[in-house]
Amino acid sequence: MNLLILNGPNLNLLGLREPAIYGRQSYADLVLMIQDAAARLGVSATVRQSNHEGTLVDEIQAAYGVFDGIVFNPAAYTHTSVALLDALKAVGIPTVEVHISDVSKREDFRQVSFVRPACIATIAGHGLGGYIEAMELLKEHLTR
Ligand code: DQA
Repeated sequence: MNLLILNGPNLNLLGLREPAIYGRQSYADLVLMIQDAAARLGVSATVRQSNHEGTLVDEIQAAYGVFDGIVFNPAAYTHTSVALLDALKAVGIPTVEVHISDVSKREDFRQVSFVRPACIATIAGHGLGGYIEAMELLKEHLTR
């Protein structure tokens, strides 16, 4: 089972970026956590990050026929991007939306998720552990 873990803008700055909201662990720590979980779950995980909306669209398109599931934190594009929604709908790959912070308790503009209608579940506010939960959920969903 091949999973794509896709991260949007500014997530490469984890650890440095607003640690009171996103924690002190770095992006490299996140990648290690994901690889550990992948080994435990017996799945393959490819981790990618981009600050560019079009590159994220390209990643989703290229995932077709390659990846069985996507763990997706679109970051700020969550709240703005019809293009990412359309890309997820186009490829139809089971996708779990992840947010490190609890977006439901933050600013009004974070209450909208454009990608949510194309996702099988959303995990928000569970810190970096949310990525691991999403991987577990996808494994369960894909082996059902
Ligand atoms: C985020 C929440 C978004 O609102 C924000 O723009 C991010 C990160 C999260 O993981 O909590 O960049 O997706």
